[in-house]
Amino acid sequence: MLTLRDICKTYGSITAVDALSLEVRAGEIFGLLGPNGAGKSTTIAIATGLVAPTSGVVDLLSLGSPSQASVRRHLGLAPQEITLYGELTARENLLFFASLYGVANAAARVDSLLQLVELDARAKSRVSTFSGGMKRRLNLAAALVHDPQLLLLDEPTAGVDPQSRNRILELVRTLAAQGKTIVYTTHYMEEAARICHRVAIVDHGRLLDVGTPNELIARHGGSSVVVVIRGDAELRVVTVDPAGEVARQLSSGGVTGIRVEQPDLEAVFLKLTGRSLRE
Ligand SMILES: Nc1ncnc2c1ncn2[C@@H]1O[C@H](COP(=O)(O)OP(=O)(O)OP(=O)(O)O)[C@@H](O)[C@H]1O
Ligand SMILES: [Mg+2]
Repeated sequence: MLTLRDICKTYGSITAVDALSLEVRAGEIFGLLGPNGAGKSTTIAIATGLVAPTSGVVDLLSLGSPSQASVRRHLGLAPQEITLYGELTARENLLFFASLYGVANAAARVDSLLQLVELDARAKSRVSTFSGGMKRRLNLAAALVHDPQLLLLDEPTAGVDPQSRNRILELVRTLAAQGKTIVYTTHYMEEAARICHRVAIVDHGRLLDVGTPNELIARHGGSSVVVVIRGDAELRVVTVDPAGEVARQLSSGGVTGIRVEQPDLEAVFLKLTGRSLRE
């Protein structure tokens, strides 16, 4: 669906993207994870043809580079910085984006999108009066006006409450179930683990690893902790063989409770990208 081959992007002495290669497959929700400044938004901007790479090749649907408008039509972008007009209503914003793409039956399309993101009741309100979650949902709807096959969502849940976040995650799943391919960046590992079929972890513009969440956890997650409870006492055993440890503990008798704390995507992220703060 989308191929990035050996992409580099430098800004003076800053290397934002460093020899990055990715292959996003049709129908998948692909997560792009990395700390602040890792190069996620630059990668998205290159993948959408908005920024030219210093070197490397982008291909969408074997049609060539999305820097060509005819290729770019097949993708939709919901940028990290919300791009909506505060003085226009929700409906007017979507009609404006639809007119840019020459969408046929724009009014009907816009109304169905307002329903999809649950903003139909606020269709005639100015966007400047919207909450953060409402703006994020409308930003997502704007990426869908021309019904693209590939949807790129750059931190679609940044600054929203758990209710809106849940709605957005469900919406992404629904869109994927309808056959859209989705590239998704986030800082929330539990989100990525929940919805992404595969994730790439990037830092300093470089790809550190790519795979399903479970594959990455198996490769980089490290040990599990088996918590053994005997009456009031809790024993924590760090082990790479949780099943074996549980069996050993249970056979030793007197166990009143046992649970296994398995490594998660957060553990993988910290292992691969380290713990130092980014500027
Ligand atoms: N137009 C630009 N001019 C100069 N430097 C830039 C430009 N765009 C990005 N950079 C730099 O490239 C690096 C990657 O930035 P980018 O915005 O792609 O990171 P990100 O992973 O999206 O971060 P965040 O999680 O904070 O959104 C950073 O060091 C950033 O300062
Ligand atoms: Mg970014």
